[in-house]
Amino acid sequence: MEKLVITGGTRLKGEVVISGAKNAAVAILPATLLLKGVYTISNLPNISDVKITCDILQDLGAKITWKSRNEIVIDTREIDGNEAPIDKTSKFRASYYIIGAMLGRCGQIEVGLPGGCNLGSRPIDQHIKGFEALGAKVEVGQGKISAKAKKLVGTSIYMDVVSVGATINVMLASVLAEGTTTIDNAAKEPHIVDVANFLNTMGADIRGAGTDVIKINGVKSLKREGSYSIVPDQIEAGTFMAAAIATRGDILIKNCISEHLDCITAKILEIGGHVEDLGDTIRVWSNKRPTKANIKTLPYPGFPTDMQPQMGVVLSIADGTSIINESIWESRFQYTNELNNMGAHITAQGKTAVVEGVKELSGAPVYASDLRAGAALLIAGIVAKGTTELYNINHIDRGYEQIEEKFRKLGANILRITE
Ligand code: EPZ
Repeated sequence: MEKLVITGGTRLKGEVVISGAKNAAVAILPATLLLKGVYTISNLPNISDVKITCDILQDLGAKITWKSRNEIVIDTREIDGNEAPIDKTSKFRASYYIIGAMLGRCGQIEVGLPGGCNLGSRPIDQHIKGFEALGAKVEVGQGKISAKAKKLVGTSIYMDVVSVGATINVMLASVLAEGTTTIDNAAKEPHIVDVANFLNTMGADIRGAGTDVIKINGVKSLKREGSYSIVPDQIEAGTFMAAAIATRGDILIKNCISEHLDCITAKILEIGGHVEDLGDTIRVWSNKRPTKANIKTLPYPGFPTDMQPQMGVVLSIADGTSIINESIWESRFQYTNELNNMGAHITAQGKTAVVEGVKELSGAPVYASDLRAGAALLIAGIVAKGTTELYNINHIDRGYEQIEEKFRKLGANILRITE
């Protein structure tokens, strides 16, 4: 069992290089199953969700060579399996992309039900609605999802809910379908655009990714070779933005796309922080206590739910009382109990949290309940007076590459201890 021991009181200063986006990588890797060839994928974040995805692809017959920590060559010419093992697919959420890709490739797949962060119920009805609209037969039972289709035929699909996963999954399933598929009420996150860009680089015909309506004209085949670099991680960049403000520091965040951060930047400016756009780098700094602000999480380009816990830490030490409304997930306030153990005054009820800012947090043993809660509590430990022991850091390692090294380079006093 590993933990992070953090001695607080540091004002973070220096520069950090952002890794490739987890939520793009865990979709683009399964998307290679639509292809029959050899492909180089670079700027891959070296995180456990990516490693598990690669394991599953190899179980299905893909050959993967790691050229460096962040680059693989994947050969998907010989995909012979059509069963992705439950013990691996249940470890994270994005395993369901295997379904869309394998339906597109061979019309048959069985996948263990996906796992992922415990954020309340995480239905997949919109994914199934999309697959069935394209002509697939989908069955869910005994902890598995099986999908079969003799032929996939393009159609129009209106998403009842704006869903990142369902938008990407339907996109994957329709790339090689006959005719045109239109996805209405599509999600618009940067990682959706990145998946579409990857598929178009490989010969797909997808238009409108990043808007509410995505059109996919089915093609007969895709390229047999190619290379692609994953987009920088919007949420990792946002996490360091929040850390700069919480610690009254000054951080140069390199290898990011500032337009993806507009909503986070707006909130940082609102609470008295400073942001300077330097192209593929942004500078974020503050030398005073943040002021209160209200947050409502929304699909992109609204305030990202994956930044809600990190901003919760900033607001927990702000001057004044803030309201956080988590509109995407049923249960994404578990971290507030841990923060209250560090001296915060947060009352969370259903999808709303009232955050009365306190002057100071104090170190304590805290437990990460999910990936972004873990990142938030790490920031809280750096801000707090005294020592914090952060447990269940396997959650953080799912989505952040070398997290403690990146913070140590900025001056944080963090040790990873194996008990
Ligand atoms: C993706 O999850 C991300 N994960 C999540 O990030 C992120 O919080 C979420 O999108 C929202 O941005 C990955 O990309 C691997 P959704 P996903 O489908 O696709 C409802 C992180 O920290 N819904 O956009 O599972 C759902 O209940 C993780 O990196 C349905 O009702 O999210 C939720 O209320 C945590 N039916 C809303 O839509 C469906 O079929 C948004 O979910 C699908 C979703």
